[in-house]
Amino acid sequence: MVQRDKSFRVLGIETSCDETAASVVALKAGGVPEILSNIVLSQIEEHAAFGGVVPEIAARAHVEALDGIIEAALADSGTDLSGIDAIAATAGPGLVGGLIVGLMTAKAMAMSAGKPLIAINHLEGHALTARLTDGLAFPYLLLLVSGGHTQIVLVRGVGDYQRWATTIDDALGEAFDKTAKMLGLPYPGGPNVEIAASRGDPSRFAFPRPMKGEQRPDFSFSGLKTAVRQAATEISPLSDKDVADICASFQLAVSDALGDRVSRALSRFRGEFPDIAAPALVVAGGVAANRQIKATLEALCGEYGFLFVAPPHILCTDNAAMIAWAGIERMRAGMTDPQAMDFVPRSRWPLDSISAPVVGSGRRGAKA
Ligand code: KG4
Ligand code: ZN
Repeated sequence: MVQRDKSFRVLGIETSCDETAASVVALKAGGVPEILSNIVLSQIEEHAAFGGVVPEIAARAHVEALDGIIEAALADSGTDLSGIDAIAATAGPGLVGGLIVGLMTAKAMAMSAGKPLIAINHLEGHALTARLTDGLAFPYLLLLVSGGHTQIVLVRGVGDYQRWATTIDDALGEAFDKTAKMLGLPYPGGPNVEIAASRGDPSRFAFPRPMKGEQRPDFSFSGLKTAVRQAATEISPLSDKDVADICASFQLAVSDALGDRVSRALSRFRGEFPDIAAPALVVAGGVAANRQIKATLEALCGEYGFLFVAPPHILCTDNAAMIAWAGIERMRAGMTDPQAMDFVPRSRWPLDSISAPVVGSGRRGAKA
């Protein structure tokens, strides 16, 4: 149990996709959090030639890198394993090879050092980051937009989540990556699409705004991807100007569609929590780096009277500080699992176990 008058340190380990990460986060006396170290090793170069994450390569790279990353995280934090109070590791959802590497390492360390182990849902890490960075109070809305997820989640408390919307096909980051691939832009696609878009004419192609105006709250991006492919095929071979115009038109369509979906959720939140004067929308995931998307969300929040919270990029994308923090939140809430040593990694692990799977959502991305 966390003692309020004593600093409490958790080692976090993240290996669910293509980042090998370790971090030490402390909860200082008085309940103030501090990130003592945060090391993230991206495997982008190892996967770039394949245009996407290759699970086997990812798992091997985690095996090779993880020990060194953990050592570096401990050294950076100025402590060793004896100064750590608990070990938190991502146990799902994600690529099972990587999850096994991270969770097994955490189990071995916990067992040998006699420390408690906390198996963390990666999505919970994203969901609670805004409490680490901004001290946000419950409840708030989370928009998670990454390579594997596109979800709007009501965060009511630690372990208490309600998914309000999800994608019925591609994740938004996946749509960016696939668009980039179609246009011959390098992996990862998102940042390269954004760069190309900055030189393009967003009004040249009238791409669809999937789900816009629909009652159903969910997202869909595969129709947009098909429209991009058709446009690209029709005018092929593509000049640099064509690529820039397609990217700009795609980005505008995505921002528009996302804005429509998010505004529904903001209205719903207002309806369900009329007494919260200044509610917050938190954005997380790699796509949150996109300036146009961020600007769209920020404007919407202004319109609906929401506080817009975008944690720093390093804490929005995959990292282990969010896993360590989720561990601290769980310890603090007395929500640790005495059977954690027996926890089997889960490639699929919805944050909200109550919401039924969405019809039509065949999760295919790196993260299920
Ligand atoms: O959160 P993240 O680093 O890893 C996952 O959990 O998936 O997100 C990576 C995704 C990739 O699909 C990448 O193309 C996208 O985020 N991304 C972007 C941008 N930067 C990264 N998408 C749009 N615009 C960006 N600037
Ligand atoms: Zn993630």
